Amino acid sequence: MPHASLTIDPAFVVGAIDRRLFGSFVEHLGRAVYDGIYEPDHATADEDGFRKDVIELVRELGVSTVRYPGGNFVSGYRWEDGVGPREQRPRRLDLAWHSLETNEIGLDEFARWSAKAGTELMLAVNLGTRGVQEALDLLEYANVRSGSTLSDLRVANGTPEPHGVVLWCLGNEMDGPWQLGHRSADDYGKLAAQTARAMRQLDPGLKLIACGSSNRQMPTFGAWERTVLEHAYDEIDYLSCHAYYHETPGDLPGFLASPVDMDRFIESVVATIDHVRALRPGRRRVDISFDEWNVWYVDRYHEEDKVTDPQVWPIAPRILEDSYTVADAVVVGGLLMSLLRHADRVTAASMAQLVNVIAPIMTEPGGPSWRQTTFFPFATTSRLARGVTLSVDVATSTYETAAYGDVPVVDAVATHDASAGETAVFLVNRSVDSPATVSVDVRGLGAATVAEAVTLWDDDVHARNTLDHPDRVGLRPTPSAAIDGGTLRVELPPVSWTAVSLR
Ligand code: AHR
Repeated sequence: MPHASLTIDPAFVVGAIDRRLFGSFVEHLGRAVYDGIYEPDHATADEDGFRKDVIELVRELGVSTVRYPGGNFVSGYRWEDGVGPREQRPRRLDLAWHSLETNEIGLDEFARWSAKAGTELMLAVNLGTRGVQEALDLLEYANVRSGSTLSDLRVANGTPEPHGVVLWCLGNEMDGPWQLGHRSADDYGKLAAQTARAMRQLDPGLKLIACGSSNRQMPTFGAWERTVLEHAYDEIDYLSCHAYYHETPGDLPGFLASPVDMDRFIESVVATIDHVRALRPGRRRVDISFDEWNVWYVDRYHEEDKVTDPQVWPIAPRILEDSYTVADAVVVGGLLMSLLRHADRVTAASMAQLVNVIAPIMTEPGGPSWRQTTFFPFATTSRLARGVTLSVDVATSTYETAAYGDVPVVDAVATHDASAGETAVFLVNRSVDSPATVSVDVRGLGAATVAEAVTLWDDDVHARNTLDHPDRVGLRPTPSAAIDGGTLRVELPPVSWTAVSLR
């Protein structure tokens, strides 16, 4: 049986955990907005047409920020289409997802939804088909109190207070050939720097995110980051990373090792950022915004979901509606652990996405909403991971994968909130056939006791929650978790994710 040992010591601090690590993402894509967060005829709809059952689930999920309105969608979006009287709003072809955008929901409505859900709004500007001027116009509309044409327009449209948006993405995945207005690193780096400079002239308090690579497999990965940073380093606060993973039939062990890829991704981008910074002595730090990450069965979209008939432009089609398994949730838990492990440099992140589209929350029009398997590790980590991340140095056996070489069977990360006297340890067992035992030296915590211990696992690693069986998979108690003589012992089932909270 695999075994792992580690030490939790509050002295070994990696970095403070920014709440923005627990962000999410709502794109105008499929049923994320329409029939997702917004369904005016639904029994739970509020006065703005937002589903209250969904808002409650978003609150339970513990989402800090929500990135909006895209994604690929933003690279063809005209933000003006989504403000003002609804009956006058245009219906546009969304080329990114081959859909018809009705513009019933735009910035003002979404900001209202975000406030109701208790989240911070993070906006993306269109640097695909548009540029500096349109970004400035949107910023003026969103953040200027009043007295200018666009801020007064917002007031006239029924939003007297500015939205006060701090986090702004300078375009989306501009390295991707699929992106409208895709550019070279050199062109994008210059455009991002110009846009950032102009936006800061209007509002110096903004936090700006330049696009890094769409994923680590992009042929330009690394060179893209370096070139963009050479142009934009002084103007930005974050460089973005995006990564999606999925299980290839027959390679569950490789899939479970996906967080190893995320670790390497983050570490190589940090190295590039610091290399560029070293050439600019005295410059402030640029961090990573990992603003798209998740499990996504992208091939299913390309093979089954995608509508390409030039005469058919569906409204809110059922696309990218992945149904997640226990194994997917274990990977999501592991990806969150990777983000936490790098809390010193990853200070914002967005799980992509939030509702219906590759999402932890699903809805049925006129029907119920439910939690996917991936909901549970996110909600629990967001609730328990407070304060700082601690370095834990796990000693465990390894197994071989085709994609990442030898990877640890057991993964672990710990967090510590000194003021609340709370510590949490998150554990994954990647073995597909054997439980693992873990011993954690917790003497450094004094007289700690186990306050809560939960595990996500199932005899069927491909079990899911569905409309018909919404509660098939959930968290289970972890009776093995106990402290004796300064050692916490836990047994982890095969293919499982566990959280233990100590007080
Ligand atoms: O989240 C789905 C899509 O994945 C986003 O629109 C895009 O940015 C990424 O490629």
